[in-house]
Amino acid sequence: MKKPNLQIALDQNTLAEAARIAHLAGPIVDIVEVGTILELQAGQQSISVLRAMFPDKSIASDTKCADAGSTVAQNSKDAGADLMTVIDSATIATMKSAKSVLDGIQVELYTAWTWELAQQWQAIGIEQVIYHQSRDALLAGEVWGKKDLDIVKKFIDMGFKVSVTGGLNLDTIKLFEGVPVYTFIAGRAITGQADPAAAAEAFQAEIRKYWS
Ligand code: 5RP
Repeated sequence: MKKPNLQIALDQNTLAEAARIAHLAGPIVDIVEVGTILELQAGQQSISVLRAMFPDKSIASDTKCADAGSTVAQNSKDAGADLMTVIDSATIATMKSAKSVLDGIQVELYTAWTWELAQQWQAIGIEQVIYHQSRDALLAGEVWGKKDLDIVKKFIDMGFKVSVTGGLNLDTIKLFEGVPVYTFIAGRAITGQADPAAAAEAFQAEIRKYWS
């Protein structure tokens, strides 16, 4: 089974801090993400800087785009992004227009998705979804468990490439053993550590333990 990618989510408030962390941990991960918080603070510039820092890596723009799909996708693409998120509650028209500009559109799953909608996303060519436990739900006591695995597996069975994110730590990874997850996206468990490079290495080693 193919080893899942490791994506670092840079949710810092400033580009300077995000770039500092990216300099340390970026070389170790597979995908570098401008997280939503950073997008709102300094989106375009952050994508451009990370693209320049990592010319050979995929760069993700976590806009959670809800409208004006083609404009937001064009802006992300022009700055150097390969991947961009749209929120599950966006209209099919928004997703379609985003996809017409940037191939790597990922639907971020929160609370508005249904299996019928997922079929409509596939019908317009969307191949990727991100299964997300929200930061606020986790703070309110939500935990990763079988219910999440069942949903992730069903999306994979439908043919989607599925990324998983939201409060991931080293202990969460093993829950997904045997499941062909496309990408694990980790933010604070890497960026909040004293040694982000060592934290990223530890994630990669943990992923390699269960997927080869
Ligand atoms: C917030 C996000 C985060 O980037 C994602 O959840 C990863 O961050 P963390 O591992 O710190 O929860 O999309 O909306």
